[in-house]
Amino acid sequence: MNYSLIRALLFRLPPESAHHLALESARLADRLGLVSRLTNVPHEQPVEVMGLRFPNPVGLAAGLDKNGAYTDPLGQLGFGFIEIGTVTPRPQPGNPKPRLFRLPDYEAIINRMGFNNHGLAALMSNVRRSRYQGILGINIGKNLDTPVAEAATDYLMGMERVWGLADYIAVNVSSPNTPGLRDLQEGDALRRLLEQLKARQESLHRERGHYVPVAVKVAPDMDDRAIRFMAQSLLDSGLDGVIATNTTLDRSAVARDRLSDEAGGLSGRPLAERSTQVIAAFSDALAGRLPIIGVGGITDGASAAAKIEAGASLVQLYTGLIYRGPELVPEVARAVAEAQSKGAR
Ligand SMILES: Cc1cc2nc3c(=O)[nH]c(=O)nc-3n(C[C@H](O)[C@H](O)[C@H](O)COP(=O)(O)O)c2cc1C
Repeated sequence: MNYSLIRALLFRLPPESAHHLALESARLADRLGLVSRLTNVPHEQPVEVMGLRFPNPVGLAAGLDKNGAYTDPLGQLGFGFIEIGTVTPRPQPGNPKPRLFRLPDYEAIINRMGFNNHGLAALMSNVRRSRYQGILGINIGKNLDTPVAEAATDYLMGMERVWGLADYIAVNVSSPNTPGLRDLQEGDALRRLLEQLKARQESLHRERGHYVPVAVKVAPDMDDRAIRFMAQSLLDSGLDGVIATNTTLDRSAVARDRLSDEAGGLSGRPLAERSTQVIAAFSDALAGRLPIIGVGGITDGASAAAKIEAGASLVQLYTGLIYRGPELVPEVARAVAEAQSKGAR
């Protein structure tokens, strides 16, 4: 498939319109049976992480399919897993538009979407209707109008409702676009939240008879001390994994761009190095006791391999897919396989 042509057309539209058009077109192409004919699916390269068997280690990161409405077409792009959400208990509109910006010179995006989503009930009915059979992660968050001090209520409700549908649950405490959310990554607030999540995971395991691993998604804007504290808190909690990283508030890499002052989180190529450093720091602190899912600025095979070399067991993409198209999935899968076999030798 010639993505550069499709991209040239999509990039003539405002980013959010292009997003919807691309997903709706993918849905139509899927219904016509075209998606699988237009894409190259990677070979099976199974990896076991968090007790789950992933057919390959390349996943779709959260935020592209917030309501789980497009898992059928997305599932045909060759991903080893798809993470939908962030979903909040109740529907909410997110921030006013415009809230999504392309920085093509940097293969980057700035977004301040603010968890626009249709809520748990809508996501659950979408998942139930979907034909997607692969590994599904569901990323949960809190509503804007839920006070941060009561955030646990929203996360626990999310966990409970998606328990029967998710292969793993991702807890998003790292979006920069919900005021106060990142406070949950620190100190007593973090420890209390992780404890409550673990307690509910155990009770749901007992009541429902099956275990669902829970991973925590973290920000790249943490210093080494904060990373060590987070790593130790995760180990103490008994939760199952860490997803590193979300978008960054740092603009130093794109300071010359006319859009660099837009509020929100920066993703794509300028995030790659920082996100890999954070993975390396977690890997050091966790010493193999907890798996890391590496995400942030993967735009080619080499940037994905760097995340594996830094200690990630799986990787995820979002912004790279916008700039490079579906071809990026098999390219990254090949690079990751090579990096993993080098690491195993
Ligand atoms: C438009 C947009 C929306 C996003 N929404 C979410 C979200 O709802 N939840 C989440 O955990 N991460 C969200 N992310 C962050 C991505 O999942 C990913 O962590 C980040 O973009 C870094 O990866 P990338 O450089 O490959 O895009 C979003 C990213 C973008 C660009």
